[in-house]
Amino acid sequence: MYGLNKTIMSKLVKGFSKFSKVEKINWLAENFFLDKDSGIRTLEQYVNKDSKLQQLHDEFIENTISNFYVPYAIAPNFLINGKPYAIPMAIEESSVVAAAALTAKFWSDRGGFKAEVISTRKVGQVHFIYKGSPEALESYFQAVKDDLIKATDHITENMRKRGGGIVAIELRDKRESLDDYYQLHVIFETGDSMGANFINSCLEAIASSFEKEGIQIVMSILSNYVPECLVRAEVSCKVQDFFPENPRLYAEKFVQAVDIARIEPFRAVTHNKGIMNGIDAVVLATGNDFRAVAAGAHAYASRDGQYRSLTDARIIEEDFIFSIELPLSLGTVGGLTKLHPLAKLSMEILQNPTAKDLMQIVAVAGLAQNFAALRALTTTGIQQGHMKMHLLNILNQLEANVHEKEVITKAFTGKTVSHSAVAEYLHSLRTDQ
Ligand code: MEV
Repeated sequence: MYGLNKTIMSKLVKGFSKFSKVEKINWLAENFFLDKDSGIRTLEQYVNKDSKLQQLHDEFIENTISNFYVPYAIAPNFLINGKPYAIPMAIEESSVVAAAALTAKFWSDRGGFKAEVISTRKVGQVHFIYKGSPEALESYFQAVKDDLIKATDHITENMRKRGGGIVAIELRDKRESLDDYYQLHVIFETGDSMGANFINSCLEAIASSFEKEGIQIVMSILSNYVPECLVRAEVSCKVQDFFPENPRLYAEKFVQAVDIARIEPFRAVTHNKGIMNGIDAVVLATGNDFRAVAAGAHAYASRDGQYRSLTDARIIEEDFIFSIELPLSLGTVGGLTKLHPLAKLSMEILQNPTAKDLMQIVAVAGLAQNFAALRALTTTGIQQGHMKMHLLNILNQLEANVHEKEVITKAFTGKTVSHSAVAEYLHSLRTDQ
């Protein structure tokens, strides 16, 4: 087969999905583990003892052999539109939750976050090729437009009862960019669900109804670019309340840092990555699709052709104002939101938000994260905060015990942390004993 040698062939497998879980693990251990027993033990450590819960996880995806945990944490003290929240976050990166919690406290002492949903429209498209006359296509579209909507009636029935459904269908001529290429551009309202399955089902029904000789449907799929599903969050305070010492200088440096991220893509990407630390962590903790959210946010950051900051900061006379605006397609019903027990609990912790509430909470988490990063970067530098958690990761890697952790954390306070320096210190500690 294409000249593949025996060693390569032996590591390729047929019918893997049909193997039992034990067979899958054995095949994997046989072919890819360095130490079979230790690899299998690691997988087993993460299998849930509650077999029903494990089965639930096994049925989320295919070929499951264990679970991959990320820490689940709480950032308390968020005040959003006057309402207190403890925000659940699922993330592996050191310092993100601590930064969120610190920022929440800082702003709850200054009136909290204000947030508003600007719009909630989502988009799906039927992409097709048509080589005939554009006028004939336009009149065919106008003639069948109502039928296209009717073709989705059985799918949209429940959604319509909840105030959602198809808002509009447009025929878009895209021949300027690609020969013979057109779209049906469909706009949806999906209420409290993210609506991916709903949108895709509608689009496929629309495509089947629209297809005829001469119209070649290429694909029907929702767009994760949702510039009309937009949320804005803001904090503000008097410049003099910004920082205990030299508040105007630090407020100005903060604004300059955001200005740099507006005009310099190398900085903007890192700046927005920090925002996504907060956003993705809440999106994941609530069982939403963080890849969809990230793709949509980054596309929005480049909407004018250059990749820019998602946040904005300014000083207007004596006021410091810091805000974020981004598209967020989220659900509080459907998908994993009620199915994954921890996602369900996250919703409970967030007081069972509507999708609009969740958009506001997530935008605030992003703004808070960016605030924490910029405040650190423009004052002490980022490493001071990071190093404490980094040190703990190194100590865990080196299998330090509780006493050793305590001694070494003290010894490294205010000092530069490196793997070799910590290893050396630990070694000397152990040999001195
Ligand atoms: C690290 O995960 C995120 C930061 O780099 C964000 C930033 O630079 O603004 C600290």
